[in-house]
Amino acid sequence: MSLTAFNNDLMAFIQQSPTPFHAVDAMRQRLQEVGFEQLPEAEQWSLRPGGRYFVIRNGSSLVAFRYGTQDLLDHGMRLVGAHTDSPCLKVKPNPELHKNGYFQLAVEVYGGVLLNPWFDRDLSLAGRVTARDDQGQLHHVLVDFHKPIAVIPSLAIHLDREVNSNRSINPQTHIPPLLMRADKEDTDFRDLLLGHIKAGNPSMATVLDYELSFYDVQAPAAVGLDDDFLAAARLDNLLSCYAGMQALLEADGSQTSVLVCNDHEEVGSQSAVGAQGPMLRSILRRLVSSDSELSRVMDRSMLISADNAHGVHPNYADRHDNNHGPLLNAGPVIKLNANQRYATNSETSALFRHFAEAADVPVQAFVVRSDMACGSTIGPITAGELGIRTLDVGVPTFAMHSIRELAGRDDAHALFRVLRYFYDVASLAVQ
Ligand code: CO
Repeated sequence: MSLTAFNNDLMAFIQQSPTPFHAVDAMRQRLQEVGFEQLPEAEQWSLRPGGRYFVIRNGSSLVAFRYGTQDLLDHGMRLVGAHTDSPCLKVKPNPELHKNGYFQLAVEVYGGVLLNPWFDRDLSLAGRVTARDDQGQLHHVLVDFHKPIAVIPSLAIHLDREVNSNRSINPQTHIPPLLMRADKEDTDFRDLLLGHIKAGNPSMATVLDYELSFYDVQAPAAVGLDDDFLAAARLDNLLSCYAGMQALLEADGSQTSVLVCNDHEEVGSQSAVGAQGPMLRSILRRLVSSDSELSRVMDRSMLISADNAHGVHPNYADRHDNNHGPLLNAGPVIKLNANQRYATNSETSALFRHFAEAADVPVQAFVVRSDMACGSTIGPITAGELGIRTLDVGVPTFAMHSIRELAGRDDAHALFRVLRYFYDVASLAVQ
């Protein structure tokens, strides 16, 4: 896939995917379009070499794989991991707030949200609603209001003269979005939701519950005098989900290649569908005939955990180690941490450099300043669950966890090219 087509479709994918539920649904559509078959976890599977499959759990995590024509015991598996969730504001269970003649929704902060940029944006609402129809049957309904239905206005500078030097944000009191003027205090959010879903699902009678989050309606865009940058929400980590999916779609199918996209990375990964849970292992176990066979296969396998890295910001360059300041449009970044916040070791790092060279892609390296704490990702968690050698890598970005993040025009496509090479490579052996 060419750079331009890749970036255009990446931007379309991000816009289709305001929540993990939507991201998984968008991946499901793309996989089914080219013939991947969905496997229900509750049923028996009969897998054939050369077959293409995927599994969805909770509507928010996905494992897709090509069952290779080469023998698994001899060749192992090639795995790519990413996450479907992004920090955001989620609607509380009893969210109605009537204050000073306005109707607002109370929100809970999901993950490490950079709160400042959420002010003065045109916000919409999306997620999953679970409703009962007029026959008493329960259903999941994917919801996306699409249009801007809410806003969190800033406080005018005249009412807070210290704001540019001394602003703090209270997540309980300062961020509930405004939805409308309301003189009466009788708006029920579940009724409002029911009205919205009835348009497409007329048999729905009651909204029982929901997982909904706000998002910015501004579309992803190429930015910069020479279009050097790509600006969008949720680049962390839909960018890596997309690069992994495209690589899997284009893999030649000789090797068993797996893409895992987990929910709940931003809140620690411990859940039924997160990386620190049984989902991936229980799916991989069904590709082999015994536990000992899985151990033998894992010994010959490798996982590339793809999640964005921090590019060195020219206005804040002292936040990086001088020798480890990744640049945008200079290639994917191998992430290392001696304390195992990243799972990379010299073997997986060497393999990745070897693949990148073959794919004609430049590589950078990141290690956090020795006097700062290091972030983490699903790499060490999945490595800890499976005992598989693992690499942490990601494209350099700015403004991670902002409502609008920034990546380089070339880097997602470069990552995709290395991942495609990795999926097809015949041997992962280091003697
Ligand atoms: Co991330």
